[in-house]
Amino acid sequence: MHYGGDYNPEQWDESVWQEDVRLMREAGVTMVRVGVFAWARIQPAEGVFDWEWLDRVLDLLHRSGIQVSMATATASPPPWATTNHPEMLPADENGATYWHGSRQAYAPSSPVYRRLAATLLTELVSRYKDHPAIAMWVANNEYGCHLHYDYSDNAATAFRAWLQARYGDIDALNRAWGTMFWSQRYTSFDEIVPMRKAPYSHNPAGMLDFKRFTSDTLLELFTMERDIIKGAGSEHPVTTNLMGFFAPADYWRWAEEMDLVCDDNYADPNDPESFRTAAFTRDLMRSLKPDVPWILMEQATNAVNWRPANAPKAPGQMAALSMQAIGRGADGINFFQWRQSRQGSERFHSGMVPHAGLHTRTWHDVVGLGGTLKTLPRFSTTDAGARIALVLDWDSRWALSSPDHPVEIDYEQLVMRWHAALHRQQLLVDIRHPEHDLSGYDLVVLPHAYVLTDAAAANLSAYVRAGGTLLVTAFSDVVDEHDGFREGGFTVGLRDVLGVAVAEFGALVPPARSAGGGSAGDTGAEAASPSAAGPGEDHADLSGPFGRARGEYFAEELQLLGDDVQVLGRFTSGRLTGLPALTSNAAGDGRACYLATIPDDAGMAAVTGWAAAQAGVRPVLDVPDDRVEVSRRGDVLTLINHGGDAVTVSVSGTDAVTGDIVENVTLERFGWTMIHIG
Ligand code: GLA
Ligand code: GLA
Repeated sequence: MHYGGDYNPEQWDESVWQEDVRLMREAGVTMVRVGVFAWARIQPAEGVFDWEWLDRVLDLLHRSGIQVSMATATASPPPWATTNHPEMLPADENGATYWHGSRQAYAPSSPVYRRLAATLLTELVSRYKDHPAIAMWVANNEYGCHLHYDYSDNAATAFRAWLQARYGDIDALNRAWGTMFWSQRYTSFDEIVPMRKAPYSHNPAGMLDFKRFTSDTLLELFTMERDIIKGAGSEHPVTTNLMGFFAPADYWRWAEEMDLVCDDNYADPNDPESFRTAAFTRDLMRSLKPDVPWILMEQATNAVNWRPANAPKAPGQMAALSMQAIGRGADGINFFQWRQSRQGSERFHSGMVPHAGLHTRTWHDVVGLGGTLKTLPRFSTTDAGARIALVLDWDSRWALSSPDHPVEIDYEQLVMRWHAALHRQQLLVDIRHPEHDLSGYDLVVLPHAYVLTDAAAANLSAYVRAGGTLLVTAFSDVVDEHDGFREGGFTVGLRDVLGVAVAEFGALVPPARSAGGGSAGDTGAEAASPSAAGPGEDHADLSGPFGRARGEYFAEELQLLGDDVQVLGRFTSGRLTGLPALTSNAAGDGRACYLATIPDDAGMAAVTGWAAAQAGVRPVLDVPDDRVEVSRRGDVLTLINHGGDAVTVSVSGTDAVTGDIVENVTLERFGWTMIHIG
């Protein structure tokens, strides 16, 4: 179990380093990430490198038995780079330049940035690839974090090349994008611009491609660095730190290129539900690369600095969130950063060694957690034993974040609410992509899968016919991969297994909801939230075998395509009173259910609870309070009480830390335990 954080010794006088290392040992630190923002210190000018200080840092850490996850230092070019090469700077949608003076001031597609980064990394790797302190490489930092999209001339050139590679000739692009509408027909790739500010909404297929291009461009930066490291003969794993369900990068594709997954997560201590968002993120990280444990690369010991109000963590909360990560597949717990910065934008951000010194709860808790990690069992697997798959993908997220739909919906928030509904019921889930093999799951939940490829539709249909239970919700299977309608209207891909097709989406006025509870590193992330409700119908009640629920966003009118389709639930209020709201259809050896709305939180729990029971899936454990979270990793259950009051849970097994036989456990606020049930 790795334990540590970002170590940025370039901020400190060398006399502090000795104390750092002594304190790291006291805290049980096993590994630190070095050099993440050290480009300006390593390379004071083009062609000039200063390594001696870094040699001493790495040697000191090695002598002290502390491993290094070596950062590649490419995340923030120094001012000399952007002064000498201003053409590498990124631009916003108005063409305005983002200048240096903060961090991450580079266009991801800039050939100059790539050359400078590659040169730096080639030197770094050649100097340190055999250094005995190094155990892992971490490329760049949070790709795309602050600058989600770049619209510079670099992006224009690269986007054109990307489109040319995808479509071959411009007529194919014209057909895919439907450019006969609004006189958008292109005669050459050179006419295409990267979705800069336009008078009105952009071509939806073009927008979707621009988001795919952005993800691919960032990924090229990662693979460039990975290939330099591996090409130099280093055998250590190469990774980068992801940011949960991050908008600009399709992490399904990224994970395939990474040796292991790392995540940064800053659950908001002010948000009493942020532990659920964190649980979702951790399930996603485990699911991105199910066979390899992931590492929590960054979290905060206490408060961050970048929210409007930055609450400290409550006593016990830091350990509870750390155990949550481990219980959901992590083999390492790290913080940003080791020693709190005295200067710079993050001087109010907590660290492992706080400004207030060692007689603080923060330091006490850092030492305590380091000690605790040493007592944990060794996990041989990340397997959660989940019988349910929650299916998500970036295409639907990207397409739904563009305008011009029946109603604005926030795909990310809704997917997290579906996960939370399952989480509240102790129903364990893996997260999968619509084209993944789903055959191991008893229930697949497919919420608002707006973009559905032919391959995904075939995959999901095959899953049903082979005996699975599929729950599809409103606004799924609407468009193809180019955000265009298929011949035959809506619900074309899945209609054979569903036995229904949507005739009309029946948009409702969206409920007003706060954006709150952001997950990883959403420093500057867009806070997409549906606009406030105006007058009009804002919900439709429904009832069915799950009980009663309130439907929001859509009350879809369904066409039943056969006599065998069962209508299990009906709308009980609004325009569609009396019409089908939940259907079920037998197909092959399985069953596909369609829910013609998106329920509120209680409704999501009711419907998923019903669907799980239909599919024969039981909660992992019965607990008396839904703020007690239970996860499973191999034959170890992790129980955490995120609520305010002590809760007693009956669970039999042996305590994975003490070996004691257990029948009941009482968990105080933020109390946790790991129980061997094997
Ligand atoms: C305007 C435009 C039309 C169409 C409609 C849609 O009237 O002239 O081309 O966009 O709005 O409401
Ligand atoms: C991100 C960055 C870190 C730091 C933290 C602060 O995760 O990677 O460098 O800025 O946010 O929360």
